[in-house]
Formats: sequence, C-alpha cells, structure tokens
Amino acid sequence: MPHYSFSNTQVLVLAAGKGTRMRSAKPKVLHELLGKSMLEHVLISLEALNVGGIAIVTGHGSKQVQDTMNAQHDVSWVLQAEQLGTGHAVQQCKDVCADAEHVLIVCGDTPLLQTNTLAKMLTEHVHSSSDISLLSAFQENPYGYGRIVRDQQGNMLKVVEERDANDHIQAIQEVSSGIFCVRQSVLFELLKEVDNDNEQAEYYLPSILPLAVQKAYSVQSCLMRDANEMLGINDRTQLRNAAKVLQNRVILDWEKQGVTIEQPETVRIDVSVHIGTDTLIRAGTQLLGHTHVGDACDIGPYAVINSAWVDDDVMIDAFSHVDHAHISMHGKVGPYARLRPEAYLDEGVKIGNFVEIKKAVIGKGSKVNHLSYIGDTQMGQDCNIGAGSITCNYDGANKHKTIIGDHVFVGSGTRLIAPVEVNDGATLGAGSIITRDVNPDGLTLSVRSEQRYVKHWQRPEKK
Ligand code: UD1
Ligand code: CA
Repeated sequence: MPHYSFSNTQVLVLAAGKGTRMRSAKPKVLHELLGKSMLEHVLISLEALNVGGIAIVTGHGSKQVQDTMNAQHDVSWVLQAEQLGTGHAVQQCKDVCADAEHVLIVCGDTPLLQTNTLAKMLTEHVHSSSDISLLSAFQENPYGYGRIVRDQQGNMLKVVEERDANDHIQAIQEVSSGIFCVRQSVLFELLKEVDNDNEQAEYYLPSILPLAVQKAYSVQSCLMRDANEMLGINDRTQLRNAAKVLQNRVILDWEKQGVTIEQPETVRIDVSVHIGTDTLIRAGTQLLGHTHVGDACDIGPYAVINSAWVDDDVMIDAFSHVDHAHISMHGKVGPYARLRPEAYLDEGVKIGNFVEIKKAVIGKGSKVNHLSYIGDTQMGQDCNIGAGSITCNYDGANKHKTIIGDHVFVGSGTRLIAPVEVNDGATLGAGSIITRDVNPDGLTLSVRSEQRYVKHWQRPEKK
C-alpha cells in the first residue's frame, strides 16, 4: 500500500446510534467480524490515511465503546447525548474540526471500507477543488440505502433515504455510502440550515447536498469500484453477509501468499492471523485471534486454534483445540488433542489423542500420546508418558507443580500426586501412584496389590 498523508483533513466516525435492528445489549459498532469490532475495522482503514485527527462520535453505550477502543487507538471522543440524526452528530464536532480544511465523515457501521478507496476519494476531492464529495456505489439491491437523485444533465441533486423514497426513487440503484468529504467551512455553514422534515424527524447529514446545490457550491460523487466495500451493517443478517465478504478477501490474500485452503467456505480465518507459505489449512478449521502459523504446516480438518503460536513444519490433526499455547517446530498434535493456555511444546513434541496439556512445558522430543492430563508441569527432553497417565495437580484449593527430568519413562496409568519431582532417567512402573520424589534412573513403582486367581469362579448366566 502506498504511503498516504492527508494532514489537513479531520475524520469523524459516526457511532452514536443504538443499532436497534441488531437487537443487542452491546452497542452496534462493537459487534465483531473475524475477531475485530466493526469500529476497529473502520479505524484500521482510516489510520493508514495519516489524517490530521480522528474523532469518534458516541452516544449509546459510549463508555463501553471508549473503554474497548482507547488502549489501541489514538482518537478523540465527541458525545452526542441525544441521537437526532447523522447531521446532528456532525454538528457536535464543530470544535474538533476547527483547524481542518476538509472533514471526512464515515459511519462506524461500514467495516469493509478500504484505505485505498478513501484515499482515492480524498485525492479526487482535493484535485477537483470540490466543496462536497460523496462516495457512491451501484447496488443491485439498493434497499435500505439513501438513493442518489440527479437532474437530466446528471448533476447530483440530493440523497433520499429509504423511508422517504417513493416507488420511482426506490428503483434507483445508485446509492450513498454515507461517506462524505466536505470543506470544513462549508460543512458547518450548511449544517446550520438542515431541518428534520423527514419521516424519522432526524437531522440528516445528506440534507447538506440540496442546500449546497442551491448555493452553487461544487458537489461531486466518487464511484466505488467494489460496491461491497460500503456494505452497512444494521442487523445480524447484514453482519453475517459482511463477514462472508471479508472472509473471502482474507482467504484470497493468503492464497496469493502461498497458503492452500481446502473447502474455504467452511474455514474461518480472523484478520489478525498470520499463515506461512506452503501451509495447508484443511476443511472446517478455525484460526482465531492473533494466531501465528508457520511455513509448511498441516492444520485440521476441524482444528480450532485461538491466539496460539505454531512454528514451521507442525501438524495439528483433526478436531484438536489449541488455545494460547506454543507449538515449536516439527511438532505433532492430535487428532483430538487439547492444548490449553500456557502449554509450551518444545521442538518435535508429540501430543496424541485425548490428551490435555495446561500450563506445562513439554521438553524437546517428548511424547504424550494417549489419554493423559498434564498440568502445572515442567517436563524435560525425550520423555515418554504412557497412556492414561495424569498429573494430580489440584487438591481442591491449590495447584501444585510436577517436575519431570530428561529421558523419563512413565508407565501407563501412572498418577503423579503433585508436588512431586521425577529425576532424569527414571522409569515409573505402570499403574504407580507417585507421592514422593523419584530418584534418577532405575525403576520406581508403588507397591501393587496382590493378584489373585479364583479358579472355580463362573460367569453369571444371562437370564
Ligand atoms: C445512512 C445514511 C444513508 C446511507 C447509509 C449507508 C443518513 C441519514 N443516512 O443510513 O444515506 O446510504 O447510511 O450505510 O445519513 N449515527 C449517529 N448519530 C445519530 C444517528 C446515526 O452517530 O444521531 C450513526 C450511527 O451509529 C451509524 C451511522 O451514523 O453508525 C449511520 O446511521 P444509521 O442509522 O445506520 O443510518 P442508515 O439508515 O444506515
Ligand atoms: Ca447504517
């Protein structure tokens, strides 16, 4: 992406609306697509423009919105206590716009917008010395959007909202994205004259258009190449559709970078995920949050990986669940494995079916292949943990640590009652209950109960 700079432009993001149609306790702009809120998607595309400043207008749930955004983004906040319309929202921003020459207004509910599209609009706005530029698009189904009405010469006259449109206007497929770039002085002059004479009795931002035409200000539209970018989200169906468009964009991007994705319509890949070249993502897999997957990995089918680090040449087999864990090079995990937070697998570790690892380091080349629970454990290199062995780390009140050295062989069905330490080279007999520290090398086993033989016993017969 080229480097942009629009330092004489102030951006306003309108995000005060309740989002009634979402039917949610959460403010609309905090609803997520592929791991990021709508508002964050919008902010990320705006930040790359390097504008003079970004202000967000909030109202409904303003505290919640500010709390979620503040840490990551350098923005200012404007409160619109009562939501009297998009024009009214912009009016509240007069002070933050005072030093800017142009004001770019975007809605917080159009998360698919891309930096390049906005940059093209701003560049055209400046080069043509326009007073008002409106980003427009052709929508096959224009329902819900403001329609652009032109005169016979094709000059833009006004935008008519869905609710205010007659049949003739409803048939117009050229729609407003809601995104305007306006000369600052003109914007606030015109807003003073906007009325609320419409079906919703709101002060509409698009109402500045006919006023500008009357006063012979120059007004132009800038057509979007990809009409999908302006998809506005007002309800959960639109949220799903936008997420689908975004997912397709993300998948195409990774394909270009050498990743193979099988049955992509079944896969979810969040926007902050990284995937290395020659990696294969199989059907039904979900790569979530800040997951990093290295080169030449084989993931899935149906693996769920959340904010985990997966190094190069790792195989994560079917139905495995990996959450905030680390898998080093040449690791093999699953099928049906569960790595919980702070599981750290060193190089070449093998974790097999129905094994759960939590807050534990598994040393280089060690294997935990079947039906085990390893928690709060520090394990050395080249250990072999037999089927069904578990660390008993929790006494009902506190968690205790298990320490296992290098080259330890744990027989099947062993219970390690923590806190306990097993020294290098030890072998633990199958079925042992280990309650005290174990010497290096040799065989350690707990005393087994005597085995009896009952010769004349007979199986009960079926009735
Ligand atoms: C708006 C536009 C419409 C455009 C469409 C594109 C208006 C009147 N309509 O319609 O022309 O085609 O977007 O998606 O501008 N908001 C506030 N304060 C308010 C009212 C709204 O901050 O008082 C915010 C909302 O939170 C939202 C944005 O403005 O993020 C747009 O409002 P919304 O009610 O979604 O407008 P639409 O009906 O989608
Ligand atoms: Ca909207």
